[in-house]
Amino acid sequence: MGFCFSQTLIRWSKQHGRHGLPWQGQKDPYAIWVSEIMLQQTQVSTVMERYPQFMRQFPTVKALASADLDAVMALWSGLGYYSRARNLHRCAQQIMAEYAGQFPSSVQELVKLPGIGRSTAGAIAAFAFEERAPSLDANVKRVISRFFGITSDPQSHKTTQLLWEHATAILPKSKSQMPVYTQALMDFGATWCASKAAKCQSQDQSCPMMSECKAYEIGHVEHIPAKKKKKESPAFTTHIFLIRYQDEILLERRPPKAIWGGLYSLIETPWQPAAKKLDHSKSIDVIDLLNQTEFVSQLSKKDLAAITSIEKRGVIEHIFSHRRLQIQPWVIDLKQKWLCTSYAIDWIRMSRLGEYGLPQPIRVFLESNSR
Ligand code: ADE
Repeated sequence: MGFCFSQTLIRWSKQHGRHGLPWQGQKDPYAIWVSEIMLQQTQVSTVMERYPQFMRQFPTVKALASADLDAVMALWSGLGYYSRARNLHRCAQQIMAEYAGQFPSSVQELVKLPGIGRSTAGAIAAFAFEERAPSLDANVKRVISRFFGITSDPQSHKTTQLLWEHATAILPKSKSQMPVYTQALMDFGATWCASKAAKCQSQDQSCPMMSECKAYEIGHVEHIPAKKKKKESPAFTTHIFLIRYQDEILLERRPPKAIWGGLYSLIETPWQPAAKKLDHSKSIDVIDLLNQTEFVSQLSKKDLAAITSIEKRGVIEHIFSHRRLQIQPWVIDLKQKWLCTSYAIDWIRMSRLGEYGLPQPIRVFLESNSR
C-alpha cells in the first residue's frame, strides 16, 4: 500500500496528538468558533485557562449577542488583539439577526462573517460540520511547505494559493475523519514539525512523514518555509553643517540618551521621517536649515555676513540596527567666528579631532573634508 498523508497523520495523532482540550470532542459550532478565535493569536495554555470562563458567562450565541460589549471586552482582557472580541460580539449579533441564531454550516457562508477568515472558517466547518475544507494556520502552512518542499516566498499570493491547493488535495476522503485530521495537522505542526528543532532534526528519527517529506529529502527542513523578508527599517533625513573658521570647526556634544548619545557631532537639523529620498531638484535655503538647528537658531545679520562660502557635499547613508539615516552635509566657511552661547557646542581645532568621540560616518566625513 502506498503512503497516505492523512492516514499517516491520523495514526500519529492517536499517540502524539493533543487530547482532552476543553473545546475538543464537541459539535457545537458556537463553542468551536469561540475556541478558534481565541486560539488565533493566543497560546493553547492560555486559552485553556480563559476559554471555560468565557463559555460559562456566554454559553450560547444568543447570550453573547445580547451581552454588553463592555462585558465581552472585560472577559477578553489580557488576551490582546481586542478586535477579535469586538468581532465576536458583532458576529453573534449578525447570526441572531440574519441566521435566526443558527450558525451557518459551510465555509462559503462562514467566511462572510466578521472576524472569520478562510482558515478559521475551514476549522469551524471541519470540526463542527465535517466539511472537507482545509484550514491553514501558520503551523499547518509550515507542515505543508516542508512536505512538498515549497521554497518560494511564503508571503506571496502565488505561494499561498499553492498551499491551499496542496492542503485541499491531501484531505482525507472520508468526511467523518475531518475533525481528527484537522486537529492532528495543527498538533503535528505545533509539536513534531515545529519551526525550530523539528523531530527529524534530532537524534530521534521517528517522524512518520520522513520517508516522503521533500524538505527532509533535500536537507532543507530548517530553511522551509523561507524566512519572512525583514521589513525595511524606517528612514530619516537630516542636514549636517561643517562650519569652519581657519583650522577650527564647530562641534556639538549630543545629549546622553539620544542616538550617538554623548558623542560629539556636527550641528544638525532635527531628523525627519523620509517619505522618499532627499529631493535634490528643489533649491534649498541653507540659512533656513541652519535656523532649524538647536544651537544656531536665529543667526544675526553679523553672523550671516561672516559666511564666505556654502557648499553641498554628497549624501551619506548610514544604517542603524532599526533605522536608516540619510545625511546631507553642507560645508560653510566663515571669515569670523560665530559666538557659541551653548555649553554643548564649541570650536575645536581639526588637529585635535582625535581626542573626541565621533560617530563613525561623521569622522569619515570630517577626515575627507579636512584642510
Ligand atoms: N490553533 C488554531 N486552532 C487550533 C486548535 N483547534 N487546536 C490547537 N491550536 C489551534
